[in-house]
Amino acid sequence: MSFVSDSDWRKWGEIDPYFGVVSFEEFKAERIAGNRERFFATGRREIHTAMREISARYGDVAHRRALDFGSGVGRLALPLAERYDAVVGVDISEAMIAEARENCRDAGVANAEFVLSDDGLTRLDGSFDLVHSYIVLQHIPVERGLALTAQMLARLAPGGVACLHYSLQRTLPPARELVYALKHHVPGGRIAMNLLQRRAWDTPTMQMNNYPLARILHLYAEHGLEDVFITPEWQETALTARVYGRKKA
Ligand SMILES: C[S@@+](CC[C@H](N)C(=O)[O-])C[C@H]1O[C@@H](n2cnc3c(N)ncnc32)[C@H](O)[C@@H]1O
Repeated sequence: MSFVSDSDWRKWGEIDPYFGVVSFEEFKAERIAGNRERFFATGRREIHTAMREISARYGDVAHRRALDFGSGVGRLALPLAERYDAVVGVDISEAMIAEARENCRDAGVANAEFVLSDDGLTRLDGSFDLVHSYIVLQHIPVERGLALTAQMLARLAPGGVACLHYSLQRTLPPARELVYALKHHVPGGRIAMNLLQRRAWDTPTMQMNNYPLARILHLYAEHGLEDVFITPEWQETALTARVYGRKKA
């Protein structure tokens, strides 16, 4: 069972954007001021990893326009803007977008813009040399996330590269599985668990969804992506992967 995740993300953007992006205690609203450099360093590392894989496999690819889907506070758009002529971030949360714009202003980055997301990605124009997303689709129900994947792949320029990240499998210890099920699938469960865990009653959740790899690979093939490869990443209790591919030139 899955349900709409957008209202939760709008709330994370409003109450605790940096923790919403990387859920470490040190990035909570009350601590982020002293830890901003560490926060943004995590983003530089993620983009370094993606770029290293892309150039090792595909060699010299075009670096005109990059799309970062689910751009949050701009953690990944900022390092992408050092490597691409123009970066477009899309996000479902206005508050995240406002924070990303401010972070770009503070960093003197003028080649990144941020627009509000919708399921048709209707605010995007043109094509992209990179479509990128990291730790986003896992929070979106699977059918919707696959449709968004198709939208992104359709916007790739000839020779353009996709680097999209998915959760594939998650195994929680039984007690945590129970808490997750209560919070996500039982009416009133989220409020009850928030109160039990001494949090504000309306603290939003982060749903986690596991994607079927075969369907992702079919989508890549249908959209003309070749030389597809996967880099698995274990994240706590989840097996996740970045799925790379390059559109026929
Ligand atoms: C865990 S954060 C990751 C942010 C960024 N990718 C990063 O790694 O720094 C997930 C982001 O995805 C955004 N998001 C969630 N659902 C979305 C949707 N349907 N469309 C676009 N963005 C979405 C959230 O608002 C949030 O900013």
